[in-house]
Amino acid sequence: MATQPMQNLEKAIRQNGLVRFVEHFAQQYPDSHLKDMIVDRLGPNREMEVQGREVINFGSDSFLGLDQDPRVREAIERGLHHWGSHNGASRAFSSVRSNEQAEEKLAAWLGTEAALIYPSVSLTNLGALPGLVTKRDLLVIDEHAHNSMQDGARIAQANGVRVVPFSHCDPDDLDRTLEAAGEYRVAVVAIDGVYSMTGALPPLAKLNEVCLRRNAVLYVDDAHATAVLGPHGRGTVLDALGTYDNAFVIGSLSKGFSCFGGFIGCKREFKQLLKIRSNTFIFGGPVPPAYLDAICVVCDILASSEYDIIRARLTRNLTQLIRGAEQLGLVVLGAETPIVSILVGDEDVTLQAGKFLFEQGFYVQSVTFPAVPYHAGVLRIQVNANHQPGAITGLVHGLAKLAESFALPTTRNELRRAA
Ligand SMILES: Cc1ncc(COP(=O)(O)O)c(C=O)c1O
Repeated sequence: MATQPMQNLEKAIRQNGLVRFVEHFAQQYPDSHLKDMIVDRLGPNREMEVQGREVINFGSDSFLGLDQDPRVREAIERGLHHWGSHNGASRAFSSVRSNEQAEEKLAAWLGTEAALIYPSVSLTNLGALPGLVTKRDLLVIDEHAHNSMQDGARIAQANGVRVVPFSHCDPDDLDRTLEAAGEYRVAVVAIDGVYSMTGALPPLAKLNEVCLRRNAVLYVDDAHATAVLGPHGRGTVLDALGTYDNAFVIGSLSKGFSCFGGFIGCKREFKQLLKIRSNTFIFGGPVPPAYLDAICVVCDILASSEYDIIRARLTRNLTQLIRGAEQLGLVVLGAETPIVSILVGDEDVTLQAGKFLFEQGFYVQSVTFPAVPYHAGVLRIQVNANHQPGAITGLVHGLAKLAESFALPTTRNELRRAA
């Protein structure tokens, strides 16, 4: 039996607008609400057993399929044998040798002087971003930057740092914002390398030009580009800027890398400073050693010519899906990365559309407000290199049936509306 204060606390949380919104949909559409799903089995080509049925999983960020690669799995097994399940010490005290090796390999693959690994990208943003700025500095953040950077900015603000937003992907507004800020010692500008909900890529070169003119440094969360965009999967930054001289690049080890963690690529001096300044690095545990061994193996794969072969399989699958969806007249968003979003619209229809495809044997993510704007729900389809071409054909057929059964927005309607 919960105590009175516990009951009061539960009631208080239920008064929150977002909680009310989410619980309303969960109650109204208990069958189509495919959230909190329990997965019982995963197969080598994205087969997935859920609720006693087999579907093809189009909801994995493990874009290259390296989670199923025997070399990566063996590295984890070897690491487990060598290190045990966890070394159980903050890196402020000690790091296992594999941590040093993984950071060296990451930096060599990325082309930065150094890299520092955190247990996740969120913990990188919660530790490194507030760690880079103090009271006399300025933190400027894209209004649509990932939630973990917004949270990192809130920590910086609580530490007395001035934090100001600027308009999404808009270099002119960044310029105006930095000018309007008045005096500051130095500014850090936090953005995503890829905005995963829309697939938008920021104008990195133009943003960097503004930064250089206005005494500011770029901080790019490239989580969704790591291992899938740019030569050898190095992400968006080096391609766009030609150098890391004025940019920190943050990458994911849990998505395209299929391992565990996040990292920041930076100069050697900053690695040293961030070890002192990042609370999430100091006051928390590290990535388990066996996963660090697997990160070393993935770095070798990405740096080798094999990367292009794996990436070509991903491109083939992506092209097949995009073509198929476009031929059906569906509104396809994103598609710069292996995440393809199909516009649906109303929240309830988006949930029902996801359930419809699930019944056809394909799991895709129904994404609704607040992750996307209100009434602009999408089906989010994550394409992986280890999807079989037959699975993509099947999904396109499923989308065709969906378009027959639901009044989905089409490119024709959208063009008419825009005219
Ligand atoms: C841009 C960006 N940053 C951070 C994260 C969170 O990464 P992690 O799961 O490693 O905390 C995500 C997750 O999707 C992301 O898209």
